[in-house]
Amino acid sequence: MITVTIDNIPCQAKEGEYLLNVARRNRIFIPALCYVNGCSPTLACRLCLVDVDGKRAYACNAKAKEGMSVVTKTEEIEAERKAIMQVYDINHPLECGVCDQSGECELQNYTLEMGVDHQAFAIQDTPRPSTTWGKIHYDASLCIVCERCVTVCKDKIGESALKTVPRGGEALDKEWKEKVPKDAFAMWNKMQKSLIGPASGDTLSCSFCGECVQACPVGALVSADFQYRSNAWELRKIPASNPHSSDCSLLYYEVKHANIDNPKETLYRVSTDKHFSTLNGAARYGYDFENTVTHKDEKAFNEVVEALRKGEAKSIVFNSFITNEEALLLQKLKETFGVALVNPDAKAYQRFLEGYAKTSGKSLYGATTQSIKESDFIITLGTAIKTDAPNLGYALNNALLMNKGAGLYFHPIADAVVAGYSKNIACITHKVGTEEAALLWILGRFGEHLPQELQEMLSAYRVQKTKEVSEVAKETFKETVIDEATGESKEVEKTLSKTVTKTVEVVCNTLWEVLGVADMEEQVDKLLEKKERFSLMVGEDLYTHPNAANLSALVGLIARYTPFDVLLIPSQTNTLGVALVCTLDTQVVGKSIGYNEKGDWTLSALGKGQLDMPALNQQEGTFTNLDKRVVPTNAALEYHGYCLNDIANALGIEADYTVAYTEHLPEHKGFQARPFDTLPNVFANDGTELRGYALHVKEGSAVQEWSAMAPLALEGELVYLANPVHQFSPFTNKAHQLNEAGALYASAGFLEAKGFKDGQMVRISNTKGHQLVVALKQDPLWSGAIPYLPTFDIKLDVKPFFEGYRFAKVSIEGVTHE
Ligand code: SF4
Ligand code: SF4
Ligand code: FES
Repeated sequence: MITVTIDNIPCQAKEGEYLLNVARRNRIFIPALCYVNGCSPTLACRLCLVDVDGKRAYACNAKAKEGMSVVTKTEEIEAERKAIMQVYDINHPLECGVCDQSGECELQNYTLEMGVDHQAFAIQDTPRPSTTWGKIHYDASLCIVCERCVTVCKDKIGESALKTVPRGGEALDKEWKEKVPKDAFAMWNKMQKSLIGPASGDTLSCSFCGECVQACPVGALVSADFQYRSNAWELRKIPASNPHSSDCSLLYYEVKHANIDNPKETLYRVSTDKHFSTLNGAARYGYDFENTVTHKDEKAFNEVVEALRKGEAKSIVFNSFITNEEALLLQKLKETFGVALVNPDAKAYQRFLEGYAKTSGKSLYGATTQSIKESDFIITLGTAIKTDAPNLGYALNNALLMNKGAGLYFHPIADAVVAGYSKNIACITHKVGTEEAALLWILGRFGEHLPQELQEMLSAYRVQKTKEVSEVAKETFKETVIDEATGESKEVEKTLSKTVTKTVEVVCNTLWEVLGVADMEEQVDKLLEKKERFSLMVGEDLYTHPNAANLSALVGLIARYTPFDVLLIPSQTNTLGVALVCTLDTQVVGKSIGYNEKGDWTLSALGKGQLDMPALNQQEGTFTNLDKRVVPTNAALEYHGYCLNDIANALGIEADYTVAYTEHLPEHKGFQARPFDTLPNVFANDGTELRGYALHVKEGSAVQEWSAMAPLALEGELVYLANPVHQFSPFTNKAHQLNEAGALYASAGFLEAKGFKDGQMVRISNTKGHQLVVALKQDPLWSGAIPYLPTFDIKLDVKPFFEGYRFAKVSIEGVTHE
């Protein structure tokens, strides 16, 4: 740490940290419009102008050095900032009364902050038509060309789908150069020349995460669905957590009455802390999935209560889209009535975590989203990260760009979006089922102080081979030449380069052959240059792998013997929480109660069962997210039916509210005895996460345990279990902006190879006689020969094809008359 002085206040800083971030952490205000935390500075707005040791500098771009003296305000700086805001206001349409951003508009705020009370500058406006790109509306006349949208799309999300485009505005008269302060003039010049547009083609082609809309400081980029539906100040923000995926990012439900005649609270949109949190597209657009129930169905309620009381229901089948408190309630029902708790998703994860803990010696994995962002060499394995865990895909991209990082993306299906993050990420498209080979390769390549037996096993994969190599050899020879001047002959030495082929002995790692890809060692050597902070993210392909026990042991060994910090991506919103709270069974026994799953008695927050339950936007509680943090969520909307706690109460398990269980989550699993109302849900000024609390990680003794590699031989026509971007479950699909019919999603290459057409019907069948007739849909973001079936559409029964593992052998044929 070093010390810099800002406005005479000594501030601790990291060497090289941007001054703007040092000031913010120390609660010193420096105006800034274009800078986005965690991204590269663009110097578009110049408002963060400061004086550093007597020279002008921009705080978002100037790096802290020991002893620096920074002054954030002088008469000259204030005049410059005021002129910049005047320039921003030139020809800005005065439509604040209807603008979506009004009330939380940074242009309004800074115009007032800088005391702009008249307009001294003018130029003829250029026609700037507005346009709609899918879910996003762009009003070019409101755009101040701060480039935040371009920056976040590149540095945070990794799609680089936006760029500046020519505006065709009038050139500035030379006389302005004399009259307008230097920075304001430069900024004005740029504004006259540029607008924002799609990076390729006429329309935006991207995953529509909506981060650019969130980042826009004015009303230029807005949600097409939300546009003109409410003024920002009318909306009440309810702090919560993303209910759809395990990032559980900070999310505000924004609600107000439905309309002037209807006081019913209605959800209009969601938002987040734009500086320190990112919402994926499912969180952003999938907010209105509530269960609208008008009354309590006493008959259905009593039937469920009696089924448990009389022991008719022997199992409860559920998934991990529930809170920690609901998981604890289910556990209490198990302990009281002896029902089996069946949740295949959490069970697979629980087993994997247990296997990992055994060999790593730690109760939980170490990495978090933040530590991924701080890494400079990242490997992902066993996850289609872009759709399984979009926020970790964003973190990977951010690390590659901001830390000059590199990485390896091991997956049987290539991903053009991930490959596009950086030229320093190598996509290793390996054979299905060979993940063990990848883990062994990581251990062999990066392991330090490995147990003797493991070392021996790994060295058995290294074999001496001969290889033909070409090299340029120089040959020297003598030639007799006649000297033109004297006519005498003389000998001169000449050199000739020629390519020769020779056979050399090399050590090859046969694990590459198992993976079915070319030896990557040389490429990895290059990617590893100057890399120091290593992370490994693994996902659901590993947890569901038939050899998952050995895979989990190997991942634990990697955590113990290599520099990699590991993250086990939880597959559903609260998979980690359920895995820690519940004692899970493997088999359904007898009759079952389904909680958001099919059962003999079905309790459903989708409104599709005998007894209604509240959806996650109608509940208070906590989730355990992929950062091992217990984060709170709140009810955005009212609910008039029964909930799980009512059933427990009727059976003598007493607690007034579900959140009474927050302080009783199991401490021996790392939870804290903290009441729900004491859990904060904010980020501090410097970005420190003050959301809930982090689970305690216990350290214990580790065992050395692994078995021989047994890669799967799964070849032929295959299908993968995955969801398209924005979809995670039937709850995302229920939201009005994300409602779609599920399909067999495939790449353009698959359609071409099979001679299929986008939209046609196909029949998928397996050797056990399961069949599914479904529409085929081309996914422009998908590559390769393996299509995927989704889980979000309850009308498609895809489970019979997947006996645990995410890849399944099937045959796919076109049908014409279904
Ligand atoms: S659209 Fe918004 S974020 Fe993008 S450049 Fe314009 S004002 Fe800035
Ligand atoms: S929606 Fe997301 S991916 Fe698309 S342009 Fe905006 S930030 Fe980029
Ligand atoms: S915030 Fe520094 S130039 Fe805009």
